[in-house]
Amino acid sequence: MTAKKPLPGELDPIETASRDEISALQLDRLKWSVRHTYDNVAPYRAKCEAKGVHPEDLKCLADLGKFPFMTKLDLRDNYPFGLFAVPRTKLARLHASSGTTGKSVVVGYTKNDIDNWANVVARSIRAAGGRAGDMVHVAYGYGMFTGGLGAHYGAERLGCVAVPMSGGQTEKQVQQIMDFKPEIIMVTPSYSLVIAEEFERLGIKPDEISLNVGIFGAEPWGEGMRHEIEKKLGIDAIDIYGLTEVMGPGVACECIETKDGPVIWEDHFYPEIIDPETGEVLPDGEEGELVFTSLTKEAFPVIRYRTRDLTRLLAPTARSFRRIGKITGRSDDMLIIRGVNVFPTQIEEQILRDARLAGNYQVVVTRDGHMDNLEVRCELQRELSGKLPPAEIQQIGKELQHRIKTIIGVSTMITVMEFEAIPRTQVGKAKRVLDERPTQN
Ligand code: DLL
Repeated sequence: MTAKKPLPGELDPIETASRDEISALQLDRLKWSVRHTYDNVAPYRAKCEAKGVHPEDLKCLADLGKFPFMTKLDLRDNYPFGLFAVPRTKLARLHASSGTTGKSVVVGYTKNDIDNWANVVARSIRAAGGRAGDMVHVAYGYGMFTGGLGAHYGAERLGCVAVPMSGGQTEKQVQQIMDFKPEIIMVTPSYSLVIAEEFERLGIKPDEISLNVGIFGAEPWGEGMRHEIEKKLGIDAIDIYGLTEVMGPGVACECIETKDGPVIWEDHFYPEIIDPETGEVLPDGEEGELVFTSLTKEAFPVIRYRTRDLTRLLAPTARSFRRIGKITGRSDDMLIIRGVNVFPTQIEEQILRDARLAGNYQVVVTRDGHMDNLEVRCELQRELSGKLPPAEIQQIGKELQHRIKTIIGVSTMITVMEFEAIPRTQVGKAKRVLDERPTQN
Protein backbone atom coordinates (compact mmCIF):
# COMPACT_ATOMS: atom_id res chain seq x y z
CA MET A 1 0.00 0.00 0.00
CA THR A 2 1.25 3.50 -0.72
CA ALA A 3 1.56 5.57 2.41
CA LYS A 4 -1.45 7.85 2.84
CA LYS A 5 0.32 11.12 3.45
CA PRO A 6 -2.23 13.66 4.66
CA LEU A 7 -3.45 16.26 2.20
CA PRO A 8 -3.30 19.94 3.18
CA GLY A 9 -6.39 20.69 5.25
CA GLU A 10 -6.78 17.14 6.52
CA LEU A 11 -4.79 17.76 9.70
CA ASP A 12 -5.73 19.74 12.80
CA PRO A 13 -3.98 23.15 12.39
CA ILE A 14 -1.96 22.59 15.60
CA GLU A 15 -0.33 19.49 14.07
CA THR A 16 1.62 21.72 11.68
CA ALA A 17 1.82 24.90 13.82
CA SER A 18 5.14 26.58 14.62
CA ARG A 19 6.99 25.50 17.75
CA ASP A 20 6.37 28.97 19.20
CA GLU A 21 2.63 28.56 18.80
CA ILE A 22 2.79 25.09 20.35
CA SER A 23 4.86 26.30 23.32
CA ALA A 24 2.48 29.22 23.92
CA LEU A 25 -0.53 26.89 23.93
CA GLN A 26 1.30 24.44 26.19
CA LEU A 27 2.20 27.12 28.72
CA ASP A 28 -1.39 28.39 28.88
CA ARG A 29 -2.75 24.90 29.34
CA LEU A 30 -0.01 23.88 31.75
CA LYS A 31 -0.82 26.80 34.03
CA TRP A 32 -4.46 25.77 34.00
CA SER A 33 -3.67 22.10 34.63
CA VAL A 34 -1.26 22.68 37.53
CA ARG A 35 -3.66 25.14 39.13
CA HIS A 36 -6.63 22.80 38.63
CA THR A 37 -4.71 19.89 40.20
CA TYR A 38 -3.39 21.97 43.09
CA ASP A 39 -6.83 23.33 43.90
CA ASN A 40 -8.72 20.03 43.62
CA VAL A 41 -6.35 17.16 44.43
CA ALA A 42 -5.40 17.39 48.11
CA PRO A 43 -2.59 14.78 48.06
CA TYR A 44 -0.82 16.61 45.22
CA ARG A 45 -1.28 19.98 46.93
CA ALA A 46 0.36 18.49 50.03
CA LYS A 47 3.34 17.35 47.91
CA CYS A 48 3.69 20.86 46.47
CA GLU A 49 3.55 22.41 49.91
CA ALA A 50 6.18 20.01 51.19
CA LYS A 51 8.42 21.07 48.30
CA GLY A 52 7.60 24.75 48.73
CA VAL A 53 6.19 25.28 45.24
CA HIS A 54 2.97 26.96 44.22
CA PRO A 55 1.13 27.20 40.85
CA GLU A 56 2.14 30.89 40.73
CA ASP A 57 5.77 29.75 40.37
CA LEU A 58 5.02 28.39 36.90
CA LYS A 59 6.09 31.22 34.58
CA CYS A 60 7.68 29.28 31.72
CA LEU A 61 7.61 25.64 30.58
CA ALA A 62 10.97 24.88 32.21
CA ASP A 63 9.52 25.89 35.61
CA LEU A 64 7.58 22.63 35.56
CA GLY A 65 10.85 20.97 36.67
CA LYS A 66 10.37 22.55 40.13
CA PHE A 67 7.15 20.62 40.73
CA PRO A 68 6.94 17.23 42.45
CA PHE A 69 6.44 14.02 40.51
CA MET A 70 3.39 11.79 40.68
CA THR A 71 4.11 8.08 40.76
CA LYS A 72 2.24 4.82 40.66
CA LEU A 73 2.64 4.74 44.43
CA ASP A 74 0.54 7.92 44.73
CA LEU A 75 -2.19 6.17 42.74
CA ARG A 76 -2.05 3.12 44.99
CA ASP A 77 -2.03 5.15 48.18
CA ASN A 78 -5.10 7.05 47.04
CA TYR A 79 -7.01 4.11 45.61
CA PRO A 80 -9.63 4.27 44.23
CA PHE A 81 -10.66 7.92 43.73
CA GLY A 82 -8.33 9.98 45.95
CA LEU A 83 -6.58 11.75 43.05
CA PHE A 84 -9.72 12.67 41.13
CA ALA A 85 -10.14 16.42 40.62
CA VAL A 86 -13.90 16.51 40.05
CA PRO A 87 -16.85 15.26 42.09
CA ARG A 88 -18.27 11.88 41.21
CA THR A 89 -21.32 13.42 39.57
CA LYS A 90 -19.11 15.03 36.90
CA LEU A 91 -17.60 11.69 35.84
CA ALA A 92 -18.63 10.01 32.61
CA ARG A 93 -16.51 6.87 32.78
CA LEU A 94 -13.97 4.85 34.75
CA HIS A 95 -11.16 2.65 33.47
CA ALA A 96 -8.54 0.64 35.31
CA SER A 97 -5.31 -1.14 34.65
CA SER A 98 -4.12 -4.12 36.58
CA GLY A 99 -0.76 -3.47 38.13
CA THR A 100 1.85 -6.21 38.31
CA THR A 101 1.36 -6.23 42.06
CA GLY A 102 -1.37 -5.15 44.43
CA LYS A 103 -4.33 -3.00 43.64
CA SER A 104 -5.28 -1.85 40.18
CA VAL A 105 -5.01 1.75 39.09
CA VAL A 106 -8.38 3.44 38.65
CA VAL A 107 -8.82 6.52 36.46
CA GLY A 108 -11.84 8.70 35.65
CA TYR A 109 -12.95 10.82 32.71
CA THR A 110 -15.43 13.65 32.33
CA LYS A 111 -17.44 14.06 29.12
CA ASN A 112 -14.83 16.56 27.91
CA ASP A 113 -12.03 14.11 28.70
CA ILE A 114 -13.75 11.39 26.66
CA ASP A 115 -14.22 13.89 23.85
CA ASN A 116 -10.53 14.91 23.84
CA TRP A 117 -9.50 11.27 24.01
CA ALA A 118 -11.66 10.38 21.00
CA ASN A 119 -10.04 13.30 19.14
CA VAL A 120 -6.46 12.20 19.82
CA VAL A 121 -7.23 8.60 18.88
CA ALA A 122 -8.95 9.80 15.69
CA ARG A 123 -5.84 11.87 14.97
CA SER A 124 -3.72 8.76 15.61
CA ILE A 125 -5.74 6.62 13.18
CA ARG A 126 -5.46 9.38 10.58
CA ALA A 127 -1.68 9.57 11.17
CA ALA A 128 -1.60 5.81 10.54
CA GLY A 129 -3.25 6.36 7.15
CA GLY A 130 -6.89 5.81 8.11
CA ARG A 131 -9.69 7.98 6.74
CA ALA A 132 -13.44 8.39 7.21
CA GLY A 133 -15.23 5.41 5.71
CA ASP A 134 -12.51 2.88 6.56
CA MET A 135 -13.53 -0.12 8.62
CA VAL A 136 -11.52 -0.61 11.81
CA HIS A 137 -11.37 -4.08 13.37
CA VAL A 138 -10.67 -3.48 17.07
CA ALA A 139 -9.08 -6.53 18.70
CA TYR A 140 -7.82 -4.76 21.81
CA GLY A 141 -9.71 -5.96 24.86
CA TYR A 142 -12.94 -4.13 25.72
CA GLY A 143 -13.71 -3.58 29.38
CA MET A 144 -11.72 -1.87 32.11
CA PHE A 145 -8.62 -1.92 29.84
CA THR A 146 -8.44 1.35 27.89
CA GLY A 147 -7.42 -0.31 24.60
CA GLY A 148 -10.79 -1.45 23.21
CA LEU A 149 -13.03 1.48 24.07
CA GLY A 150 -10.25 4.02 23.45
CA ALA A 151 -9.68 2.71 19.92
CA HIS A 152 -13.41 2.38 19.35
CA TYR A 153 -14.35 5.97 20.16
CA GLY A 154 -11.43 7.27 18.10
CA ALA A 155 -12.43 5.20 15.09
CA GLU A 156 -16.00 6.47 15.31
CA ARG A 157 -14.81 10.04 15.76
CA LEU A 158 -12.80 9.87 12.52
CA GLY A 159 -15.91 8.64 10.72
CA CYS A 160 -14.73 5.04 10.44
CA VAL A 161 -16.82 1.92 10.94
CA ALA A 162 -15.75 0.49 14.32
CA VAL A 163 -15.96 -3.29 14.70
CA PRO A 164 -15.83 -4.06 18.46
CA MET A 165 -14.37 -7.56 18.18
CA SER A 166 -12.24 -7.40 21.38
CA GLY A 167 -9.49 -10.00 22.06
CA GLY A 168 -9.63 -13.79 21.86
CA GLN A 169 -11.54 -16.22 19.62
CA THR A 170 -8.81 -16.19 17.00
CA GLU A 171 -10.71 -18.30 14.47
CA LYS A 172 -13.63 -15.91 14.63
CA GLN A 173 -11.31 -12.91 14.28
CA VAL A 174 -9.96 -14.34 11.05
CA GLN A 175 -13.36 -15.34 9.72
CA GLN A 176 -14.71 -11.90 10.38
CA ILE A 177 -11.75 -10.15 8.77
CA MET A 178 -12.28 -12.30 5.65
CA ASP A 179 -16.04 -11.63 5.61
CA PHE A 180 -16.19 -7.92 6.56
CA LYS A 181 -12.96 -6.85 4.81
CA PRO A 182 -11.74 -4.14 7.21
CA GLU A 183 -8.90 -1.86 6.05
CA ILE A 184 -7.45 -1.35 9.54
CA ILE A 185 -6.78 -3.54 12.57
CA MET A 186 -6.01 -2.25 16.07
CA VAL A 187 -4.50 -4.92 18.31
CA THR A 188 -1.44 -5.76 20.40
CA PRO A 189 1.56 -6.68 18.22
CA SER A 190 1.84 -10.10 19.88
CA TYR A 191 -1.79 -10.99 19.22
CA SER A 192 -1.52 -9.76 15.63
CA LEU A 193 1.05 -12.51 15.10
CA VAL A 194 -1.37 -15.07 16.52
CA ILE A 195 -3.98 -13.84 14.03
CA ALA A 196 -1.36 -13.96 11.25
CA GLU A 197 -0.55 -17.56 12.19
CA GLU A 198 -4.21 -18.48 11.89
CA PHE A 199 -4.29 -16.97 8.38
CA GLU A 200 -1.20 -19.03 7.54
CA ARG A 201 -2.77 -22.18 8.92
CA LEU A 202 -5.77 -21.65 6.66
CA GLY A 203 -3.47 -21.07 3.68
CA ILE A 204 -4.65 -17.47 3.24
CA LYS A 205 -1.90 -15.32 1.67
CA PRO A 206 -1.16 -11.72 2.78
CA ASP A 207 -2.48 -10.30 -0.51
CA GLU A 208 -5.81 -12.05 0.02
CA ILE A 209 -6.32 -10.19 3.33
CA SER A 210 -8.16 -6.85 3.08
CA LEU A 211 -6.12 -5.14 5.81
CA ASN A 212 -3.81 -2.26 4.79
CA VAL A 213 -2.75 -0.91 8.16
CA GLY A 214 -2.31 -2.22 11.69
CA ILE A 215 -2.09 0.11 14.70
CA PHE A 216 -0.18 -1.71 17.40
CA GLY A 217 0.64 -0.86 20.99
CA ALA A 218 0.11 -1.65 24.68
CA GLU A 219 3.40 -3.57 24.87
CA PRO A 220 6.98 -3.10 23.69
CA TRP A 221 7.85 -4.29 20.18
CA GLY A 222 10.87 -3.66 18.00
CA GLU A 223 11.70 -3.12 14.33
CA GLY A 224 12.21 -6.86 13.81
CA MET A 225 8.66 -7.48 15.00
CA ARG A 226 7.41 -4.69 12.74
CA HIS A 227 8.91 -6.39 9.67
CA GLU A 228 7.59 -9.77 10.73
CA ILE A 229 4.03 -8.45 11.11
CA GLU A 230 4.18 -6.40 7.90
CA LYS A 231 5.36 -9.41 5.92
CA LYS A 232 2.87 -11.85 7.40
CA LEU A 233 -0.21 -9.64 7.10
CA GLY A 234 0.84 -7.55 4.08
CA ILE A 235 0.23 -4.27 5.91
CA ASP A 236 1.93 -1.15 7.23
CA ALA A 237 2.50 -1.64 10.97
CA ILE A 238 2.18 1.58 12.98
CA ASP A 239 3.13 2.12 16.61
CA ILE A 240 0.59 3.68 18.99
CA TYR A 241 1.53 4.50 22.56
CA GLY A 242 -0.40 5.36 25.68
CA LEU A 243 -1.08 4.45 29.27
CA THR A 244 -4.12 4.35 31.49
CA GLU A 245 -2.89 6.97 33.95
CA VAL A 246 -2.30 9.55 31.21
CA MET A 247 -5.43 8.69 29.13
CA GLY A 248 -5.18 5.34 27.34
CA PRO A 249 -4.09 4.63 23.76
CA GLY A 250 -3.44 7.73 21.65
CA VAL A 251 -1.02 9.72 23.80
CA ALA A 252 1.32 9.35 20.81
CA CYS A 253 1.14 7.62 17.43
CA GLU A 254 3.42 7.11 14.47
CA CYS A 255 2.79 8.67 11.07
CA ILE A 256 2.62 6.28 8.15
CA GLU A 257 4.74 8.49 5.89
CA THR A 258 7.77 8.31 8.21
CA LYS A 259 7.29 5.40 10.65
CA ASP A 260 9.96 6.93 12.82
CA GLY A 261 8.51 6.74 16.32
CA PRO A 262 5.20 7.85 17.85
CA VAL A 263 4.41 11.57 17.58
CA ILE A 264 3.33 12.88 20.97
CA TRP A 265 0.09 14.85 20.81
CA GLU A 266 1.82 17.63 22.65
CA ASP A 267 -1.19 19.92 22.74
CA HIS A 268 -2.70 17.52 25.32
CA PHE A 269 0.32 15.80 26.90
CA TYR A 270 3.53 17.57 27.90
CA PRO A 271 6.53 15.22 27.89
CA GLU A 272 9.81 15.29 29.81
CA ILE A 273 12.65 12.80 29.99
CA ILE A 274 14.32 12.44 33.37
CA ASP A 275 17.23 10.55 34.79
CA PRO A 276 15.40 7.72 36.62
CA GLU A 277 17.95 7.77 39.46
CA THR A 278 18.19 11.49 40.19
CA GLY A 279 14.93 12.85 38.73
CA GLU A 280 16.90 15.49 36.82
CA VAL A 281 15.38 16.64 33.49
CA LEU A 282 17.49 15.49 30.53
CA PRO A 283 17.87 17.26 27.19
CA ASP A 284 15.99 15.97 24.12
CA GLY A 285 17.76 13.03 22.52
CA GLU A 286 19.00 11.52 25.77
CA GLU A 287 17.63 8.23 27.00
CA GLY A 288 15.76 8.23 30.30
CA GLU A 289 12.35 7.80 31.91
CA LEU A 290 9.36 9.34 30.17
CA VAL A 291 7.28 11.71 32.31
CA PHE A 292 3.92 13.19 31.29
CA THR A 293 1.86 16.13 32.43
CA SER A 294 -1.71 16.27 31.16
CA LEU A 295 -2.68 19.67 29.75
CA THR A 296 -6.44 19.35 29.32
CA LYS A 297 -7.67 16.53 31.57
CA GLU A 298 -10.38 17.43 34.03
CA ALA A 299 -11.24 14.31 36.04
CA PHE A 300 -7.84 12.77 36.51
CA PRO A 301 -5.09 15.29 35.79
CA VAL A 302 -1.51 14.09 36.12
CA ILE A 303 1.41 16.38 36.84
CA ARG A 304 4.86 14.99 36.05
CA TYR A 305 3.64 11.40 36.10
CA ARG A 306 6.55 8.95 36.01
CA THR A 307 5.64 6.33 33.41
CA ARG A 308 8.70 4.09 34.07
CA ASP A 309 8.97 3.75 30.29
CA LEU A 310 12.48 4.25 29.00
CA THR A 311 12.95 6.15 25.75
CA ARG A 312 14.14 9.42 24.18
CA LEU A 313 12.44 12.57 22.92
CA LEU A 314 13.13 13.09 19.22
CA ALA A 315 12.86 16.19 17.02
CA PRO A 316 9.66 16.71 14.99
CA THR A 317 9.47 15.22 11.47
CA ALA A 318 6.06 14.51 9.88
CA ARG A 319 4.25 16.82 12.34
CA SER A 320 5.34 19.82 14.43
CA PHE A 321 5.24 17.75 17.63
CA ARG A 322 8.17 15.84 19.08
CA ARG A 323 8.34 12.06 18.90
CA ILE A 324 9.34 9.29 21.25
CA GLY A 325 11.84 6.65 20.21
CA LYS A 326 10.86 3.01 20.52
CA ILE A 327 10.16 2.20 24.15
CA THR A 328 13.21 0.11 24.99
CA GLY A 329 11.44 -1.26 28.04
CA ARG A 330 9.98 -0.29 31.34
CA SER A 331 12.39 0.31 34.15
CA ASP A 332 10.54 -2.45 36.00
CA ASP A 333 10.82 -4.87 33.02
CA MET A 334 14.55 -4.74 33.10
CA LEU A 335 16.26 -7.94 34.09
CA ILE A 336 19.66 -7.75 35.67
CA ILE A 337 21.42 -10.96 34.83
CA ARG A 338 24.83 -11.32 36.39
CA GLY A 339 25.15 -7.55 36.39
CA VAL A 340 24.06 -7.06 32.78
CA ASN A 341 20.89 -5.06 32.16
CA VAL A 342 18.70 -6.93 29.73
CA PHE A 343 15.37 -5.94 28.22
CA PRO A 344 13.17 -8.59 26.59
CA THR A 345 12.91 -6.41 23.45
CA GLN A 346 16.68 -6.67 22.94
CA ILE A 347 16.36 -10.43 22.90
CA GLU A 348 13.38 -10.20 20.56
CA GLU A 349 15.50 -8.17 18.14
CA GLN A 350 18.18 -10.86 18.03
CA ILE A 351 15.65 -13.68 17.56
CA LEU A 352 14.01 -11.91 14.65
CA ARG A 353 17.31 -11.36 12.88
CA ASP A 354 17.06 -15.06 11.96
CA ALA A 355 14.33 -15.55 9.35
CA ARG A 356 14.01 -19.19 10.40
CA LEU A 357 12.64 -18.15 13.81
CA ALA A 358 9.07 -16.98 14.53
CA GLY A 359 8.17 -13.87 16.55
CA ASN A 360 6.80 -15.64 19.62
CA TYR A 361 9.32 -16.12 22.43
CA GLN A 362 9.72 -16.35 26.17
CA VAL A 363 12.55 -15.52 28.51
CA VAL A 364 12.84 -17.65 31.63
CA VAL A 365 14.99 -16.56 34.56
CA THR A 366 16.01 -19.10 37.18
CA ARG A 367 18.50 -19.09 40.02
CA ASP A 368 21.10 -21.71 40.66
CA GLY A 369 22.76 -20.98 44.00
CA HIS A 370 23.74 -17.34 43.62
CA MET A 371 23.79 -17.38 39.85
CA ASP A 372 20.96 -16.16 37.66
CA ASN A 373 20.40 -18.14 34.51
CA LEU A 374 18.62 -16.91 31.44
CA GLU A 375 16.88 -19.30 29.12
CA VAL A 376 15.50 -18.01 25.83
CA ARG A 377 12.72 -20.11 24.36
CA CYS A 378 11.97 -19.46 20.73
CA GLU A 379 10.19 -21.22 17.90
CA LEU A 380 10.85 -22.26 14.35
CA GLN A 381 8.68 -20.72 11.65
CA ARG A 382 5.69 -22.89 10.77
CA GLU A 383 7.06 -23.98 7.37
CA LEU A 384 10.28 -25.29 8.95
CA SER A 385 8.71 -26.83 12.01
CA GLY A 386 9.19 -30.60 12.18
CA LYS A 387 11.34 -30.53 9.05
CA LEU A 388 14.83 -29.58 10.22
CA PRO A 389 17.44 -32.11 11.32
CA PRO A 390 18.49 -31.77 14.99
CA ALA A 391 21.95 -30.58 13.97
CA GLU A 392 20.51 -27.58 12.13
CA ILE A 393 18.20 -26.71 15.02
CA GLN A 394 21.19 -26.85 17.33
CA GLN A 395 23.10 -24.59 14.97
CA ILE A 396 20.26 -22.02 14.97
CA GLY A 397 20.40 -22.01 18.77
CA LYS A 398 24.17 -21.60 18.80
CA GLU A 399 24.05 -18.67 16.41
CA LEU A 400 21.37 -16.93 18.50
CA GLN A 401 23.34 -17.55 21.67
CA HIS A 402 26.40 -16.01 20.04
CA ARG A 403 24.52 -12.92 18.84
CA ILE A 404 22.98 -12.34 22.28
CA LYS A 405 26.36 -12.78 23.95
CA THR A 406 28.23 -10.43 21.62
CA ILE A 407 25.53 -7.76 21.27
CA ILE A 408 23.75 -7.74 24.64
CA GLY A 409 26.62 -9.19 26.63
CA VAL A 410 24.83 -11.94 28.49
CA SER A 411 25.22 -15.72 28.35
CA THR A 412 22.01 -17.62 27.71
CA MET A 413 20.72 -21.08 27.24
CA ILE A 414 18.69 -21.29 24.04
CA THR A 415 15.82 -23.67 23.48
CA VAL A 416 14.63 -23.75 19.88
CA MET A 417 11.17 -25.28 19.92
CA GLU A 418 8.71 -26.39 17.30
CA PHE A 419 6.15 -23.89 16.02
CA GLU A 420 3.36 -23.11 18.53
CA ALA A 421 5.18 -24.76 21.44
CA ILE A 422 5.11 -21.51 23.43
CA PRO A 423 1.68 -20.49 24.74
CA ARG A 424 0.05 -17.54 22.93
CA THR A 425 -1.67 -14.71 24.77
CA GLN A 426 -5.12 -14.17 23.26
CA VAL A 427 -6.33 -11.39 25.49
CA GLY A 428 -4.19 -8.70 27.07
CA LYS A 429 -0.47 -8.29 26.91
CA ALA A 430 1.99 -11.04 26.00
CA LYS A 431 3.84 -12.55 28.94
CA ARG A 432 7.42 -12.55 27.70
CA VAL A 433 9.28 -13.05 30.98
CA LEU A 434 8.86 -15.93 33.39
CA ASP A 435 10.85 -15.02 36.46
CA GLU A 436 11.22 -18.21 38.43
CA ARG A 437 13.80 -16.90 40.88
CA PRO A 438 12.85 -17.25 44.54
CA THR A 439 11.51 -13.92 45.82
CA GLN A 440 14.04 -11.89 47.74
CA ASN A 441 13.41 -10.49 51.18
O1 DLL B 1 -1.59 -0.28 27.26
C1 DLL B 1 -2.89 1.66 26.63
C2 DLL B 1 -2.79 1.26 25.22
C3 DLL B 1 -3.77 0.45 24.67
C4 DLL B 1 -1.77 1.73 24.42
C5 DLL B 1 -3.69 0.10 23.34
C6 DLL B 1 -1.70 1.40 23.09
C7 DLL B 1 -2.66 0.58 22.54
P1 DLL B 1 -1.74 0.35 30.15
O2 DLL B 1 -2.38 -0.98 30.23
O3 DLL B 1 -1.90 1.28 31.28
O4 DLL B 1 -2.27 1.13 28.90
O5 DLL B 1 -0.21 0.10 29.87
C8 DLL B 1 0.65 1.16 29.63
O6 DLL B 1 2.07 -0.22 28.24
O7 DLL B 1 3.45 2.44 30.17
C9 DLL B 1 4.07 1.01 28.29
O8 DLL B 1 4.92 0.35 29.20
C10 DLL B 1 3.28 -0.04 27.53
N1 DLL B 1 2.98 0.45 26.18
C11 DLL B 1 1.85 1.01 25.72
N2 DLL B 1 1.97 1.30 24.40
C12 DLL B 1 3.22 0.92 24.04
C13 DLL B 1 3.97 0.97 22.83
C14 DLL B 1 -2.18 0.73 27.59
N3 DLL B 1 3.46 1.42 21.68
C15 DLL B 1 2.04 0.66 29.38
N4 DLL B 1 5.25 0.50 22.86
C16 DLL B 1 2.99 1.76 29.03
C17 DLL B 1 5.78 0.02 23.99
C18 DLL B 1 3.86 0.39 25.17
N5 DLL B 1 5.13 -0.05 25.14
